[in-house]
Amino acid sequence: MKHIIAPSILSADFGNLQHDIEMINQSDADWFHVDVMDGVFVPNISFGFPVMAAVKKHAEKPLDVHLMIVEPDKFIPEFAKAGADMITVHYEACTHLNRTIQLIKASGCMAGVALNPHTPVSLLQDVIEDLDLVLIMSVNPGFGGQAFIHNTYKKIKDLKQLIKGVNENLVIEVDGGVGLQNIGALVSAGANAFVAGNAIFATESPTETISKMKQLTTSSVSI
Ligand code: DX5
Ligand code: ZN
Repeated sequence: MKHIIAPSILSADFGNLQHDIEMINQSDADWFHVDVMDGVFVPNISFGFPVMAAVKKHAEKPLDVHLMIVEPDKFIPEFAKAGADMITVHYEACTHLNRTIQLIKASGCMAGVALNPHTPVSLLQDVIEDLDLVLIMSVNPGFGGQAFIHNTYKKIKDLKQLIKGVNENLVIEVDGGVGLQNIGALVSAGANAFVAGNAIFATESPTETISKMKQLTTSSVSI
């Protein structure tokens, strides 16, 4: 499976968002990762529809929208209308997860579920066939620039087991503290999509960092 690099625009320069979007357009990146936070599910507020519309206006690659919000059903159709290609909700924020997944699909988007670091992969057993993507949080959600949680490797392996013979095309995405130092090991563990904010935008040449990340995914052997 092709490996995906998804720069998180949470770490972009919001005063010059178009510049950073064009940079991603021109780079080896595959998706735009769009982090939406409501100040309730996570202890931070990021941005909503107007900013997303501005991203959509300039982005030439799919928008991978990560909803860190309670009651996501209320807003899924609007996120789809605003240009989301994939919508990922949190397991911990959904009482009727099956219904939420169906709603994402009915809205014309790929459906993803994110797991907080404390949430075991096994809880997805009864929805795994319906999913296009699982986002394994490798930090506690809410902020960019945090340290990677090592237990993520075990969770990727658990997820590989869970999808065996059932949904082997599932995208296994890792989000938080991902960079040049660990992307190779994450590929080896079985992940195939990588979100990175700080590791890209805090470097002198984000374009070059994206290329290096991409190269490391192709030179690392996945099991
Ligand atoms: C954290 C967000 C991440 C964040 C990653 O809650 O979901 O997407 O932007 O940032 P880094 O790569 O800096 O950890
Ligand atoms: Zn995210």
